[in-house]
Amino acid sequence: MNTTVLGLDKEKSIELVNELNTLLANFQVYYQNVRGLHWNIKGKSFFELHVKFEELYTDSQLKVDLIAERILTLQGTPLHTFDDYIKAAKVPVGKNISKDVDAVELVVKSLAELLQIERSILDLSDNAADEGTNSMMSDFIAEQEKTIWMLNAWLG
Ligand SMILES: [Fe+2]
Repeated sequence: MNTTVLGLDKEKSIELVNELNTLLANFQVYYQNVRGLHWNIKGKSFFELHVKFEELYTDSQLKVDLIAERILTLQGTPLHTFDDYIKAAKVPVGKNISKDVDAVELVVKSLAELLQIERSILDLSDNAADEGTNSMMSDFIAEQEKTIWMLNAWLG
């Protein structure tokens, strides 16, 4: 088997880097969406959601860095231009959203899309015995599933 410096299968690592770059791109688009929601939210839930969205985009900013550094650890290059992010984006783009329900629904839809990408990475990392990526995906998935539960509880 052709292995990397980490002792992982080289081809599987390349595949993982590609999928992690897709996740990175989607998190960057999601980050900007949530930042927009933080700015544009209006109505009686303003104070509550303005703060909640800040919490969510700050969390996604931390995850972006973790993903990029995992890509580097796997000897890949993290995507770093808006051009590349847009090409890889699967999360819905939110523009001019100011209504509380629309904003929270956009976050739920985006998190569901991120979960799908993370689960496909988890399959690959499991198959590659890449425990580092595996545990990162497990943590992200558990956290996001909980966030979806809470946002859906808010939606009623
Ligand atoms: Fe702010």
